[in-house]
Amino acid sequence: MRAVDIIIKKRNGEVLTKEEISFMINGYTKGDIEEYQMSAFAMAIYFKGMTDLETTYLTEAMLKTGDELDLSAIEGIKVDKHSTGGVGDKTSLVVGPIVASLGVKFAKMSGRGLGHTGGTLDKLESIPGFNIQISNEEFIKQVNEIGIAIVGQSANLALADKKLYSLRDVTGTIDSIPLIASSIMSKKLASGADVISLDVKVGSGAFMKNEEEATKLAKLMVQIGKNCGKNMTAILTNMDEPLGLAIGNSIEVIEAIETLKGNGPKDFKDLCYIFSAHLLIDAKIAKTEKEALKMVDDSIKSGKALDTFKKFIKAQGGNPLVADDYNLFKKSKYEFKIFAKNDGYVSKIDALSIGNASCLLGAGREKLTDSVDHSVGIILSKKVGDKVLKDDLIATIYSNKLDVKKEIDMINEAFVIENEAKELKLILKIVK
Ligand code: URA
Repeated sequence: MRAVDIIIKKRNGEVLTKEEISFMINGYTKGDIEEYQMSAFAMAIYFKGMTDLETTYLTEAMLKTGDELDLSAIEGIKVDKHSTGGVGDKTSLVVGPIVASLGVKFAKMSGRGLGHTGGTLDKLESIPGFNIQISNEEFIKQVNEIGIAIVGQSANLALADKKLYSLRDVTGTIDSIPLIASSIMSKKLASGADVISLDVKVGSGAFMKNEEEATKLAKLMVQIGKNCGKNMTAILTNMDEPLGLAIGNSIEVIEAIETLKGNGPKDFKDLCYIFSAHLLIDAKIAKTEKEALKMVDDSIKSGKALDTFKKFIKAQGGNPLVADDYNLFKKSKYEFKIFAKNDGYVSKIDALSIGNASCLLGAGREKLTDSVDHSVGIILSKKVGDKVLKDDLIATIYSNKLDVKKEIDMINEAFVIENEAKELKLILKIVK
């Protein structure tokens, strides 16, 4: 077999065999296939697509390039949750402790943020002392003991994805359904959980800009997971405006803690409740959504979820007192307030622009090697649908630099204020 023939075959829109796909993925991982050939291959997939069966073969081939975690030493049903990436998305920090407090084993390998989307690991690292690098043995022990661990993805999972994702990032081939589905599912399958819950983001701040494309992606990932014996749920959720009010690192952790205390912003709280409920159903702890939502609410109101969060932080070396004293987080030097330019209703807060502004402040990274400033970010004071009067506070910037003119312009542009009230639907669809 020759790489060039396989590239030409895909370029011409033909269907590839399992052997051809494995040949490309294995050759690329070993270094036998050059970066320029793989970029041409990724671009051919981007334009010509893949059948569901080809995508399944691609996922399997990527999965086999690395280790597969064996979580059988963890008692009970192991669950994992993954988001396709959004702005202000700290859901795992709340969902994990909730379901763990109710007897589910939340064993998550997480990623770092890239571009306008934040990563759970960066948020967790804003907690003084928190360690995201623990061994597989410690990971298993911690999940057995307190029901939850969130760690950095081990270097050896789905090795092909690591290489291919970096290549896609610089060759304009990220937003392709077969490439996203195989990238996410190869890592999730390698992580070894029995139940996988996917948050497929739709909207300006997401890879998938419309519901139709997001539905295709969700159905494909659910099918791939089911074929491998996993219990799958994908929930399509809106990413036309940031999730919650906080976008950054430490400020998102504070918002997550407030949500665990029962004080979270409505959209974020609703999302955490629905994800937790479906994890409880898929892990066979609850039978119906109503029953599951009641269990989630009880866990928050009784303080059990917050208590589990503190145990989780402590187990991974972090200071659990941050949950009671937010001054323990590193603070930014400056604050800048942004005010509404006219009266009306907020009809849009462009998630992509807010994510980019937060990234420019230093809360995110352009390249994987960039470092992140945990103390900076943006807190919104208004959400879509809210009434505003001219000069009302709409957002606050937390920064360590004095020149934030560009960020202020981006935030002002992101906010659209019109005469009529609009509502955003948060939960768009559930795919099982
Ligand atoms: N997240 C991933 O892990 N891979 C993608 O391709 C897109 C989002």
